[in-house]
Amino acid sequence: MNKKAIITSALPYANGEIHLGHVASTYLPADVTTRFLKQNGVEAYYVCASDDFGTPILIQSEKEGKTPVDYVTHWNKRDYEDFSAFDIGFDYFYKTSSSENIAFVQDVFKKLNNAGHIYEKEIIQFYCNNDKKFLPDRYVKGVCPNCNAEDQYSDLCESCGRVPEEIINPKCSLCNQSPTKEKTTHYFFKLKNFATSLSEWLDGNDNLQKDVKKYVQNWIKSGLIDWDITRDIPWGVPIPLDNADGKVFYGWFDNHLAYISTAIKFLNDKGIDGKEFWNSADIYHFIGKDIVYHHYLFLPAMRLGIDKEFKLPDFIPTRGHLTLQAKKISKSRNWYIGLKQFLEYYPSDYLRFYLVSINPYSQDDLNFDWDDFTTRINSELIGNLGNFVNRALGFTKKAFDGEIPESESFDEKDTEAEEKIKSFASVVGDLMEQNHLDRALKKIMEFSSFFNQYFQHKEPWKKGPGTANCVYLSVNAVRSISIAIFAFMPKSAQKIWNQLGLDGTVEELSWNELSELQISSGHVLGDASPLFTRIETSDIEKYKKQLGPAE
Ligand code: 2FM
Ligand code: ZN
Repeated sequence: MNKKAIITSALPYANGEIHLGHVASTYLPADVTTRFLKQNGVEAYYVCASDDFGTPILIQSEKEGKTPVDYVTHWNKRDYEDFSAFDIGFDYFYKTSSSENIAFVQDVFKKLNNAGHIYEKEIIQFYCNNDKKFLPDRYVKGVCPNCNAEDQYSDLCESCGRVPEEIINPKCSLCNQSPTKEKTTHYFFKLKNFATSLSEWLDGNDNLQKDVKKYVQNWIKSGLIDWDITRDIPWGVPIPLDNADGKVFYGWFDNHLAYISTAIKFLNDKGIDGKEFWNSADIYHFIGKDIVYHHYLFLPAMRLGIDKEFKLPDFIPTRGHLTLQAKKISKSRNWYIGLKQFLEYYPSDYLRFYLVSINPYSQDDLNFDWDDFTTRINSELIGNLGNFVNRALGFTKKAFDGEIPESESFDEKDTEAEEKIKSFASVVGDLMEQNHLDRALKKIMEFSSFFNQYFQHKEPWKKGPGTANCVYLSVNAVRSISIAIFAFMPKSAQKIWNQLGLDGTVEELSWNELSELQISSGHVLGDASPLFTRIETSDIEKYKKQLGPAE
């Protein structure tokens, strides 16, 4: 394992509140991974930023009568608060509109330009005579030329995931009138130059998901399109050329560069050489499947275009989209649950547990279902894990006044239990390293279930021979669980740690220590209290009604 890592997750647009769909596929898996890497002694930093530029943000700030700066400042703050409440532990959260990112983007552009990867071209752009403005991206809606899906924005087809070359039957998204066409000069990035080097990079990187690589390779084979990186709008990174007044970069030219500029700023401020760190670390970009095109083509091509001055990603964990009660999330139809709102209903660990459990390391979509959520929390988290912790600690409190008794020689069951603890770190850790967070969590639940059965089998309440061993092994198993769940449910992990009467924070423990039996006889437990509260179905019925109306 590389001892340095930088982790990023798709930068959230500073354009509305974070909801469950956002956190499921990117921020949560990235957070769990970062915590796990840190537990393994990796100097890992999780950096993120609000994605401040772009046409949709300009449109929305105009609608709300705010300056774009005020608008994005509001959302940057709110997003960070919501993420923090969900225990997403960014080491640094910045913004794409920072002076550092603007300078960095302009510098990268100049290098690409000097290397011959940029050209200027007069193009015909949609223009709305009613609104008196050029109409890039979301200002235009129409039919996707690749898959014929209707009502798609001109910058990305949500149906086939491709960037349309020219949208069919265009309409101005502000006033719905058919736009005219006017001439304007734009800058293009020669993506075509990179077909071979991108393909070689994909082939040579075994850490990337095979299925994603396959369809990206197919995109390359079917021909890449040079990329228009200019917008005629007043909100974005200015193009640093004399004859480019009033033009800014397309948001997707600048936003991923903020992965680098934000990391460098953070590291330099800490007194670490940011560039050196970046180039010697493992680089992870966690994304949802809708932005594969950008992260597997644009982003690496731009880094290749500046001679890999900043290394390309090692991992791009790509996951599917969250549906809600089996329907596509839609803010306009009120078919979504805001993160802030959810955390008013239930503790963050409930959601973290549920979302990791249902989220495989693949592009398959996952579904948030209120009934399934209830079952998994009540029967698995509480019925299995919470129950074992309460049983083991509660019994020790009651029968031994919380003091771990002297253990005796082990019988077969005890030896098996001890073995479970000793192999636990590698059983779970291997899956975590392979990005299979859901399977790793499942192994933790299996471990807990094993110990529930072990406890049941030993019947320590009868105070027969073997009681002391049962207490000793069970309490050590609880300690192992506390360390193992830290990445998934940090608050519950710390609660258990406190109940065990152990010093410091569970966060300080290294991963492999979870397989050590460090609690010995004479240790006295802290105060026990129930870890979780059961979910009431009557509440769930209420929350269900707050969605919709359904179609
Ligand atoms: O799709 C989105 O939500 C974008 N804001 C993601 C940007 S990630 C980038 F910075 F690479
Ligand atoms: Zn219009």
